[in-house]
Amino acid sequence: MTNDLYARHRSVLPDWLALYYENPLEITHGEGRHVWDAEGNKYLDFFGGILTTMTAHALPEVTKAVSDQAGRILHSSTLYLNRPMVELAERVAQVSGIPDARVFFTTSGTEANDTALLLATTYRRSNTVLAMRNSYHGRSFSAVGITGNRGWSPTSLSPLQTLYVHGGVRTRGPYASLSDAEFIAACVEDLEDLLGHTRPPAALIAEPIQGVGGFTSPPDGLYAAFREVLNAYGILWIADEVQTGWGRTGEHFWGWQAHGQSGPPDIVTFAKGIGNGMSIGGVIARSEIMNCLDANSISTFGGTQITMAAGLANLTYLLEHDLQGNARRVGGLLIERLRALAAQDPGVREVRGRGLMIGVELIRPGTDQADPERAAAVLEAARAGGLLIGKGGGHNTSALRIAPPLSLTVAEAEEGAAILENALRSTQ
Ligand SMILES: Cc1ncc(COP(=O)(O)O)c(C=O)c1O
Repeated sequence: MTNDLYARHRSVLPDWLALYYENPLEITHGEGRHVWDAEGNKYLDFFGGILTTMTAHALPEVTKAVSDQAGRILHSSTLYLNRPMVELAERVAQVSGIPDARVFFTTSGTEANDTALLLATTYRRSNTVLAMRNSYHGRSFSAVGITGNRGWSPTSLSPLQTLYVHGGVRTRGPYASLSDAEFIAACVEDLEDLLGHTRPPAALIAEPIQGVGGFTSPPDGLYAAFREVLNAYGILWIADEVQTGWGRTGEHFWGWQAHGQSGPPDIVTFAKGIGNGMSIGGVIARSEIMNCLDANSISTFGGTQITMAAGLANLTYLLEHDLQGNARRVGGLLIERLRALAAQDPGVREVRGRGLMIGVELIRPGTDQADPERAAAVLEAARAGGLLIGKGGGHNTSALRIAPPLSLTVAEAEEGAAILENALRSTQ
């Protein structure tokens, strides 16, 4: 049955729409932190459909909000007042940390970042943008133009002039051997040098923890140090919180808060987890920036009632159940457990991340070379043991990515770690 679906997938969908696993999986339903495939096998889900099932699968509160809303109206467009959209915008503005915040809803992270680029380039009258090496911000023409990851850059044509900055990856690259303070100083010096050679850029866009890049990040405070330099030129700071937002990193509600010493970003983009699977993306910006466009701009599906109802119920659940605190506690246990496993495995280069966003980078033992074959083998072995995880990384996709729903229990974290331990052992 699944084989037949795979054959049909391959004949009608694009070749570049990659699937996980030698025999790809058809997930038919889920509950809590578990999903089931078409053959009836049950899995612990440590990837949440790319960090998108944020609270839990089939969360009754979200299901009820969606079905109640579906019975009233699904969509009316942005031409009419929309109560769920205004309510979610108010909640998002309130938790954003951005003063005088305005919120614009889109249907994806890509479109959110496109909007941020439109705002920043218009506000600053510059099409030069600073982005990080190893970054990923989406699949549209402009988002690909700020993607510093070869594996996700199908074209080098771009409406933007992009300059890639050092610092998104702590343990690789020319500054890897420096201390945290020296690393930050070197990245700042490089940025200052770059700015001395270019027309003033519109913005710096950065993921606080790089998602597709394999959950890599700079030392805390790098973006605060960058911010001081950017401020001197009037360059905007855009934080792409598509993966890191809503408490996933445990210690902070937003990833940028690990770099918040110089104040909040000018623009924050979000997507994935807020809708728990419903298509919600969005941009938050100070009103002065958000309102700089002098022509109409809409998103037909952005902020539609059905998705906003899901977002409101999902955000309410997240806050009322302190899932950020849960991510900190359970994620802390999980990362310690994985670090203990890694100490026994010469093929693990690094266990990194925070909260429930944990990366395990694999290398060929005795070298510093990526081991994408083992990463693929670990994914298969984990699946066979009943655990779904992801992978990523700018260095040949050799980082395992672990990002369960934020309601993960301690028992489930233990169970997942045990399955991963077996998967790592069996592939050494
Ligand atoms: C950090 C980041 N930004 C933007 C995007 C693009 O979001 P979407 O796939 O919803 O367009 C992604 C998707 O993985 C992402 O990880």
